[in-house]
Amino acid sequence: MPLDANPAPLVDSFGRTVSYLRLSVTDRCDLRCTYCMAEKMTFLPRRDVLDLEELARLSDIFIRRGVRKLRLTGGEPLVRPDVIALFRDLSQHVKSGALDELTLTTNGTQLAKHAEALAACGVKRVNISLDTLDGARFRALTRLGDIARVHEGIDAALACGLKVKLNAVASRGAFEGEVDALIRFAHARGMDLTLIEEMPLGETGLDRSQSVLSLCDVQAALARRWTLTPSRRSSGGPARYMQVGETGGQLGFISPMSCNFCSLCNRVRVSCTGRLYTCMGDEGSVDLRTALRTSEHAVTDAIRAALATKPERHSFDMSNMTRPAVSRHMSALGG
Ligand code: GTP
Ligand code: 5AD
Ligand code: SF4
Repeated sequence: MPLDANPAPLVDSFGRTVSYLRLSVTDRCDLRCTYCMAEKMTFLPRRDVLDLEELARLSDIFIRRGVRKLRLTGGEPLVRPDVIALFRDLSQHVKSGALDELTLTTNGTQLAKHAEALAACGVKRVNISLDTLDGARFRALTRLGDIARVHEGIDAALACGLKVKLNAVASRGAFEGEVDALIRFAHARGMDLTLIEEMPLGETGLDRSQSVLSLCDVQAALARRWTLTPSRRSSGGPARYMQVGETGGQLGFISPMSCNFCSLCNRVRVSCTGRLYTCMGDEGSVDLRTALRTSEHAVTDAIRAALATKPERHSFDMSNMTRPAVSRHMSALGG
C-alpha cells in the first residue's frame, strides 16, 4: 500500500488536534455490568471484527498522523485471545518513540495472566474498572463477576511495576457509602482512583434516572470528610484531579453529565469493526475498514472527512436519563 510522504496532523473543525486513539479490539466481555449492558446481549459475529493485521495497520496510520497515545479497549480487551500479539506488534511504536503511551482499560478479570506480557510490551499504566470492594455487590453489579479475580489482576499489575488507576462508576445508594473505602483502598496501594458519572449509552433494561449520581454532589460530600485540593496533575484526559490530604493520593472526577469537558477533547475512537467515532455522545461514525482495503490515502480521507463533522460537544442531558442518548452500548467502544 503506498504511504503518504508527509502526513499532516489530524485537526477537527474546532481546531482540536487528535493525539489520542482509543481502539476497541472486541465488543465481547466476560461481565455484564448493569449500567453498561443488558442482561442478554448479542455480540458481533467474529467475521465482522478486524483482524490483527488490520488493527495494527490502522493504528500505524493514526500514529503517523500525530496520535501519541493509544489505548486498547473493548468490551473487555483481554478476552480477545490474540490481544497480546497485537500489543507486541504495537510495542515497536513505544520503542521508536512514536508513541508516548500504549495502554489499556480493563475490567481486570484476566489481568493476572497477562500483566507480565503487557509490561514487556512497554505498557506502563493500566486503568482497571472497580466500582465496589464488596464481593456480593460486585457480583450483583457485574451479574457474573468474581471480585477475587480482579484483586488478583490488580496485585499482578502492581507486582510487575505497572501504574494502576482504578475507575469507579458512581451511582446512587450503596456506592455513596463505599466511596471512602475505595479511596483508602486505592491510595494505600499507590493507585489513583477516578470516579465516573454514568452516561446514557445503550439500553440496559434499567432506568438510569434512578441510579445516576452527580459527581458535583459526590465531591461536595467528600469535601466534608476529606481535605481535597485541586491538583495540577492531568493525564490529558477528561478527569479533573484532586489531591487527598489524608492519603496523599489523587482522586479524579470524570463528569461528562454535570461538567462538560468537550472543548479539550483530543481523542477519537475506532470500534472493533473499524468504524471511526469522533464523539462518544454522538451516533455518527464512518467505515474505515473498506478504505483500509483500498489505500492509506482512502483511510486518511475518510478520517479527515469524519473529523470535519466531529461535534463540538456531546448531547448527553442529565435531566433526561430515562432513555439512552445513543443506542450503542459503552461496551461497543470501551468508553
Ligand atoms: P487516562 O489516560 O488515565 O486519563 O484515561 P482516560 O480517562 O482517557 O481513559 P479511561 O478508559 O480510564 O476512561 C475512563 C472513562 O472516562 C471512560 O470509560 C469514559 O466513561 C470516560 N471518558 C473518557 N473519555 C471520554 C470522552 O471523551 N467523553 C466522555 N463523555 N467520556 C469519556
Ligand atoms: N456510563 C459511564 N461509564 C460507563 N462504563 C461502562 N458503561 C458506562 C456508562 N453507561 C465504564 C466502565 C469502565 C469504563 C470503560 O466505562 O465501568 O470503567
Ligand atoms: Fe464489561 Fe466494562 Fe461493560 Fe462491565 S463496563 S460489562 S466490564 S465492558
